[in-house]
Amino acid sequence: METRLIVALDFSSKEEALRLVDELSDAVEYYKVGLELFSREGREILRELSKRGKKVFLDLKYHDIPNTVKSAAKVAIEEGVWLYNLHALGGRRLMEEVSRFNREYAEKLGVNRPLVIAVTVLTSMEEEDLKELGIERKLEEEVLNLARLSKEAGLDGVVCSPREVKEVKESLGSDFLTITPGVRPSWAKKNDQKRVLTPKEAKELKTDYIVVGRPITRAPNPKEAALKILKELL
Ligand code: C5P
Repeated sequence: METRLIVALDFSSKEEALRLVDELSDAVEYYKVGLELFSREGREILRELSKRGKKVFLDLKYHDIPNTVKSAAKVAIEEGVWLYNLHALGGRRLMEEVSRFNREYAEKLGVNRPLVIAVTVLTSMEEEDLKELGIERKLEEEVLNLARLSKEAGLDGVVCSPREVKEVKESLGSDFLTITPGVRPSWAKKNDQKRVLTPKEAKELKTDYIVVGRPITRAPNPKEAALKILKELL
């Protein structure tokens, strides 16, 4: 079982993002494009990454009515994105319809279908925030509840904290993917991440992918930082 590295391209322009990608060259295959970069650069950044043979996690966390999300997801499918995500709180119908559409539209275009994963509970939220929304479950139970629902709806996995991987895998099977941010090597700053684990610990917990941003993107020598993290994953 392997744990792979996804580098978060949290930049405000494609020039900055691509400079990093080119600097990391063959060391890193997977990149995450989030709301900021996509809002500024749109599908152009997706094209540039796929031109370089990179795999893209498009992190736009779709949360809307099924029809609107399907229309937006067309871009991800047309651009050959490797994986994208939506909010499990959009409900079963949203996840089922997007999952079906994802398969059918990719088939129609004759391309590989992207993987589709769910965001469960944002890590910026605490149990009190859930209560305010009328969700009475314990936070970990709600994460598991939403993960289960997303699996039933045909999704491929979830974004979760490394600490949740064990339970997700035990309840939903080892082939249900876990993508985990909140990872910090011991030598890096924590920034605003609170409960972090090291890449080595995340690997021991058998997560499929770790997402790392600033310890690489803001490092004096990003390639050296990436290689050090990759070494922990061996
Ligand atoms: O710079 P850093 O390594 O903290 O970046 C992690 C990336 O993962 C960012 O793009 C951030 O938005 C995302 N993320 C996170 N924590 C979550 C979910 C996503 O840090 N719980």
